[in-house]
Amino acid sequence: MEDRLVTASKVDDDAQYEAGLRPRVLDDYIGQDRVRENLQVSIAAAKQRGEALDHVLLYGPPGLGKTTLAYVIGNEMGAPVRATSGPVLEKPGDLAAILTNLAEREVLFIDEIHRMSPSIEEILYPALEDYELDIVIGQGPSARSVKVPLQKFTLIGATTRAGLLTSPLRARFGIVHRLEFYELADMNEIVRRSARILGVPIADAAAAEVSRRSRGTPRIANRLLRRVRDFAQVRADGTITLEVAHAALKLLEVDEYGFDEVDRKLLRTIIDKFGGGPVGVNSLAAAISEERDAIEDIYEPYLIQIGFLDRTPRGRVATPRAYEYFGLTAPGRDSRLW
Ligand code: ADE
Repeated sequence: MEDRLVTASKVDDDAQYEAGLRPRVLDDYIGQDRVRENLQVSIAAAKQRGEALDHVLLYGPPGLGKTTLAYVIGNEMGAPVRATSGPVLEKPGDLAAILTNLAEREVLFIDEIHRMSPSIEEILYPALEDYELDIVIGQGPSARSVKVPLQKFTLIGATTRAGLLTSPLRARFGIVHRLEFYELADMNEIVRRSARILGVPIADAAAAEVSRRSRGTPRIANRLLRRVRDFAQVRADGTITLEVAHAALKLLEVDEYGFDEVDRKLLRTIIDKFGGGPVGVNSLAAAISEERDAIEDIYEPYLIQIGFLDRTPRGRVATPRAYEYFGLTAPGRDSRLW
């Protein structure tokens, strides 16, 4: 089923070890209720009409299930999914070869679709709109263009930020959904489901603890769960009790908000070096030796979501909550005791 047409050189570890935990049908997919319900309608309608599903764009922070959802959509449509990614496609011919091999109603999944080169993106336009390829044969005065018809397929594109897509490409997706960080209740359900699949007993309070520290992100929850399971196996009797979860998470240095070293460094740098902000993202990236993209795609969205960071027109600002986290007093609020 999971037929990878172009094998990415960078094998995604998370994707591999998580494969067994991923839901395969919409009914098993937890959370993202609005997205799920909308997809249910679109898929049922396309199936009733015997047509390919409209092209789908999924965007949102990493680890929220864009790839999972692409495979779920394929399963629900009863169609194979061919997966590739923007950076893997080097020449227009790479994409042309994939497109001409797609059967009717098959799904092509392009991860990191914003990282496709412009020359490749251009051949996608007629493919998406009219299901045909415009191929130029020969060079110079004798060059001519031929149109190659394609089967009616579905493209599912995934990106961390829809704003990184060119507008002509974005306009060609009929179904566009943003994945949000998961609610705590949904995270809890995901952790318990994963523990069940892994066959590891987990106390309710322990599942809640792992959920709380997973930044609303199933990929992180599943990763923590595996590490906590290791700990339970080696340092306890195999059951994940609350005490086991606490000890394991402490050893992993995952704090109560699920912050890692970079989160703390980012906030601390804004507070200590930039007077709490505002600071431009480039200066911030340089100060903490991280890529600007990693800050914007991975770290910032969650810090903003939980109210530790503000994005203002003049730059990033640490909020009073961030000060509170470090046991500091925010400027201008020094008379308040937290
Ligand atoms: N595993 C990872 N993401 C999931 C989700 N949204 N629902 C159920 N299991 C998951």
